[in-house]
Amino acid sequence: MNMLELKGVSVLYGSDVQALYNVNLEVKAGQWLAIMGPSGSGKTTMMNIIGCMAKPTSGSVILDGQDTSKGSEADLTAVRRDKIGLIFQQFHLVSYLTALENVMLAQYYHSMVGEAEAFAALERVGLGARVHHLPSQLSGGEQQRVCIARALINYPKLILADEPTGNLDETNEDLVMDIFKHLHSTGSTLVVVTHSPEVASYADRMAVLEHGRVVEVTDPPPFEHKGSRRRRSIYG
Ligand SMILES: Nc1ncnc2c1ncn2[C@@H]1O[C@H](COP(=O)(O)OP(=O)(O)O)[C@@H](O)[C@H]1O
Ligand SMILES: [Mg+2]
Repeated sequence: MNMLELKGVSVLYGSDVQALYNVNLEVKAGQWLAIMGPSGSGKTTMMNIIGCMAKPTSGSVILDGQDTSKGSEADLTAVRRDKIGLIFQQFHLVSYLTALENVMLAQYYHSMVGEAEAFAALERVGLGARVHHLPSQLSGGEQQRVCIARALINYPKLILADEPTGNLDETNEDLVMDIFKHLHSTGSTLVVVTHSPEVASYADRMAVLEHGRVVEVTDPPPFEHKGSRRRRSIYG
């Protein structure tokens, strides 16, 4: 069963910037897909379309059996709330709220999560001792883990991460990867944009975007895990 299908998806910004051209892609339920490609190739645009934050100019997006490219704003809000967990490179935490309050507020401010539930989510990402800290009192890796706790609060079927380790050092990258590996092992579907071959190496499949087109799909990704760890991005 496919969790996600993009069929002939194109995105035009204004009248002259075409960010995606006729993208076709399928992601099976439980699959981990890595998306790579140079800066400006359309990766974030694709994540915004999949994450129901924007609609394609043409083509369709079928998420868990529902055509979100045809949905109303209310439909898209419901899909984001019920099915999607989003993790960005920039942390998007509210600076004057503690880690616990940020998780309680939930993403898209769709609901207030109970304090006990938010605390449990932070414990799951190893932050049980940091719940009353403000974002400014947390390291980059800890802030990213607060974002992950927030994204996972509603047990989303589909987790979308756009360069989630782009601002992290190797130790924190490993911590985030451990969380993703755990999510994968428990059946979540993951789509992770990354410049890092190491991060991509853990995916089941890799799609490469160039100039808004999928130019390569490799199953599994052509990278090896740590040990033969190559830290340098293949895109420099
Ligand atoms: N809101 C926007 N308005 C106009 N052009 C945009 C917008 N967002 C992205 N673009 C352009 O679309 C292309 C793809 O951008 P993006 O999806 O952010 O790529 P990536 O995430 O791979 O770096 C780029 O040429 C970018 O400048
Ligand atoms: Mg991007």
